[in-house]
Amino acid sequence: MSQNHAAVRLVDASDTLPRNSERWRPIRVPAQVIEAEIERLSRIPAPQNGRRSALIVHPESKEVSGISQGVQIAINVLLPGERTQGFRYNASQVELCIRGRGTVHVENQSMTMEPYDVTMVPSMRHHWYSNDGDTAWVRLSYSNAPLLQRLGVLYVEEGEASSSALSEDPPASAVYTSNSAPDIAVSPDGARLRGYEFLTDIPVVENRALCWPWTSVSATLSSEPGDGKRTIMLLYNPATERRNGTTHSFFATMSRVPPGSPPRRAGRGHRHSSVAINYHFQGSGSSQVDGETIAWEAGDLLLSAPGWSEHAHFVSPEGASVLTIQDHPLHIGMESLIWQERIDGPILTLGSQPGQKGYVGPRLAGA
Ligand SMILES: [Fe+2]
Repeated sequence: MSQNHAAVRLVDASDTLPRNSERWRPIRVPAQVIEAEIERLSRIPAPQNGRRSALIVHPESKEVSGISQGVQIAINVLLPGERTQGFRYNASQVELCIRGRGTVHVENQSMTMEPYDVTMVPSMRHHWYSNDGDTAWVRLSYSNAPLLQRLGVLYVEEGEASSSALSEDPPASAVYTSNSAPDIAVSPDGARLRGYEFLTDIPVVENRALCWPWTSVSATLSSEPGDGKRTIMLLYNPATERRNGTTHSFFATMSRVPPGSPPRRAGRGHRHSSVAINYHFQGSGSSQVDGETIAWEAGDLLLSAPGWSEHAHFVSPEGASVLTIQDHPLHIGMESLIWQERIDGPILTLGSQPGQKGYVGPRLAGA
C-alpha cells in the first residue's frame, strides 16, 4: 500500500487570515545596461538554435527568471541573415521591436516588424524569427512563462511545426456534445449543473498572431499639446473580449505625452494588483513608486509598479513615449484585479463591480 500520505503536513489555520503578500521593489534597467547586453549578444558565436537571448532578472527573483513574479522579459538579437529554430510553448508573448527589422513567423502567418511595432504570439503556436535586413534586429519579448513555471505547467516543444488539431470532425450522430449535455438550474441565484462535455470542448475563440504597426499607433497618439488626441491607447486583441488584453495575460499600451505638455501636479498616485512595466523609448521623466523617486530616460526599462505599489509618473518638458505591459487580463480572469484610483478612496474589484468613469490616462498630465 502506498505511504505517500505520510509526507503531507497539516497546518493549523484556525483564527487566522491569509497574510498580505510582500512586494518586490521597483527596479530600473538603464539603457546602457540593455545596450551593453545587445552588444554582447551581437558578438557571441551564433547559438545552435539561433537565439541570441538574455533574460532581464529582478534581484529578488529566485525560483524563476522574471522581471516580476509573473512576467519574463528577454532581450533578443538576430543578426542579418540569421534565423532561429522554431518551437512552441504554452506561454504567450508580446514583442516590441526596438531596433532594425525582421519577420516573426507564426505557423502560416508572418509579420514584419520595424522599430516600435508590437506583435503578439499566441500560446502553443510554432514560431520562429528571421532577419532579412542588413542591420541587427533587436526585440524585447514579454511572456507569462514565470507564472506557468511557478504553477509547474510550462510546456515547451522544440522542433519543426506539427499539427495537434484533431483532423476528424465528430460524427454527426455524436451524442456527447455540449449541445446535448445536461444544463440544469439548481438555484434562483444562478447555480447550475452541467455535463462534463462543457469542460472538454469549450467554445473556441480564434486567437491569431497580431501586429500593431507603430505608424498606425503613433497616428492616434497626441503629437502636440491640445491636438485633441489621446495620450494612451490599448493594443487590443479581440480574442481577449471583455478582458481587454493584447494576450490573454497581458495588455500592452502605447502612450505619448508630447513635448511642452503641462506638468502634472505633485501628489499621490494610484495602485492596482496588476504589475506594470514601462519601457521608455523617447523622452524622459520620473516615477514615484511606494515613496521612491526614480528618474528615467529613453531606453530605460522600469518595473514601474510591482503589483499593489502606489505609483505616479511625471513626464519632463521634452515629453515621453512609453510601452506599458500589465498582467491586467490575467487578473480579470481570476477576479483579483483590485484598483484604488485615489489612495484615500475605495478599493474596486474591476470586472466585478463598476470601475472609474471618465478616466483616460494613467496618472499623467492633463489626465
Ligand atoms: Fe498604474
